[in-house]
Amino acid sequence: MAKNEDIFKKIISHCKEYGFVYPSSEIYDGLAAVYDYGPNGVELKNNIRDYWWKSMIQHHENIVGLDAAIFMHPTVWKASGHVDAFKDPLIDNKDSKKRYRADVLIEEHISKLEEKINKEIKKAKKRFGEKFDEKTFRETNQRVIDNQKKIDDINKRFADLINNNDLQGLRSLIDELQIACPVSGSRNWTDVRQFNLMFSTQMGSLSDDASSIYLRPETAQGIFVNYLNVQKTSRKKLPFGIAQIGKAFRNEIVARQFIFRMREFEQMEMQYFVKPGDEKEWYEYWKNQRVRWHLALGIPNDKFRLHDHDKLAHYANAALDIEYEFPFGFKEVEGVHSRTDYDLSAHQNFSGKKLQYYDPDTRESFVPYVVETSIGLDRMFLAILANSYCEETLEDGSQRTVLKIPPLVAPIKLTVLPLTKKDGLPEKAREIMDNIKYDFMCQYDEKDAIGRRYRRQDAIGTPYCITVDHQTLEDNSVTIRERDSMQQDRIKIENISEIVNKKINPRL
Ligand code: GAP
Repeated sequence: MAKNEDIFKKIISHCKEYGFVYPSSEIYDGLAAVYDYGPNGVELKNNIRDYWWKSMIQHHENIVGLDAAIFMHPTVWKASGHVDAFKDPLIDNKDSKKRYRADVLIEEHISKLEEKINKEIKKAKKRFGEKFDEKTFRETNQRVIDNQKKIDDINKRFADLINNNDLQGLRSLIDELQIACPVSGSRNWTDVRQFNLMFSTQMGSLSDDASSIYLRPETAQGIFVNYLNVQKTSRKKLPFGIAQIGKAFRNEIVARQFIFRMREFEQMEMQYFVKPGDEKEWYEYWKNQRVRWHLALGIPNDKFRLHDHDKLAHYANAALDIEYEFPFGFKEVEGVHSRTDYDLSAHQNFSGKKLQYYDPDTRESFVPYVVETSIGLDRMFLAILANSYCEETLEDGSQRTVLKIPPLVAPIKLTVLPLTKKDGLPEKAREIMDNIKYDFMCQYDEKDAIGRRYRRQDAIGTPYCITVDHQTLEDNSVTIRERDSMQQDRIKIENISEIVNKKINPRL
């Protein structure tokens, strides 16, 4: 098994064992691509949500929040283009009977070529050491040049085919690139067909007058249809933003890689309304802001990369993905999209209601342009876990599994441990716990030897443990142990909150 695949499997089982994520309806053998969050998972998820919400709403005076309903008028999805265009091209392998996304098969083929280039670069780096110049190497090494040309050609053709909705062309490209089914190894493919990803259901109690409605595939439309309500009631002038967190649903053709691609998931989206013509400037601004948000969590820079879209969604004039290097490769966690006035104009046309903004300075009315930031909460959760998971061999030869979760979002900030269960230590530890639990999320644990209790806290990523011992009864001091360094210091009980707060509430 490849090393990264092995790590990914370990992360999935760690998530279950320590109450982060469970398969949905597990006693009925689960439901494909649907997951439930356990006690530690829900804390981590809430903390990521809060971090995003604060960075959008609390740190920006001109961004306000919204919580729109999941169900929306069916015409919303006609106007937004989702009924006609929110489709993925699917293809079946006739031998394995496995279903794939045709675009993903081609993207994976491109990734393999990129992998070949990376291998050449790695080899050359090793050979030339400090003198190695990647740019020159890319421009002069024939194998790299050939593979890069192949990638560029495929990308260009692929973008044209997708933009022209040319399904026959996609099928021909798959044949031409000799892409085989990873399961059967055969190239015995069906034609490519389009598949709409929206779930639909019935609203109304009688089948006669019940109407079909959709489960929203993105939260953004709730913002668009409310934009004038919000603008008027919060008296915002352009540029201003509306942020929202909520569930979205997509009937993904191939749902795999744990919580990376789910059928029910959560999005954190912000639509920033700007003057037409200013959108490129704000697109750059939000790209940089969002990268800073990720890096402020302490995830290393080289774990992220930006990917500009060649094939644009039906609503965008510029778009990029912020990709994180998961154990299964660099994949999108967040999108930044310049959505033009596509959505507001479409809703204006379909609803017959004016959605124009009146500019009091120029006395003009117009439909604003929109720059969107859209991040998957579950994907961010997975990125944080993947970045945090460590297996370490300690000086004494023992092993520990530790989640080095950024303290700001760690599920439990501090655990209080009486050294033994006697001599009044549990009572003293409880007293500390009862005091401190109002400041941040704490746990109390008195079961098992102290070493095992530290390991349990390491496994769920608790940044601090304090131990109450006999000296505590004499001078009101405790030992505080830091998760990553495992260093222990003696501190006064009255200083616990300040020390922990400094670590868990850094200024961004
Ligand atoms: N409103 C724009 C929009 O929805 P998107 O790129 O389709 O854009 C935005 O989705 C983000 O939502 C993605 O970057 C990803 O993090 C998350 N996302 C999309 N589909 C997902 C799925 N099936 N499971 C988990 N997260 C998903």
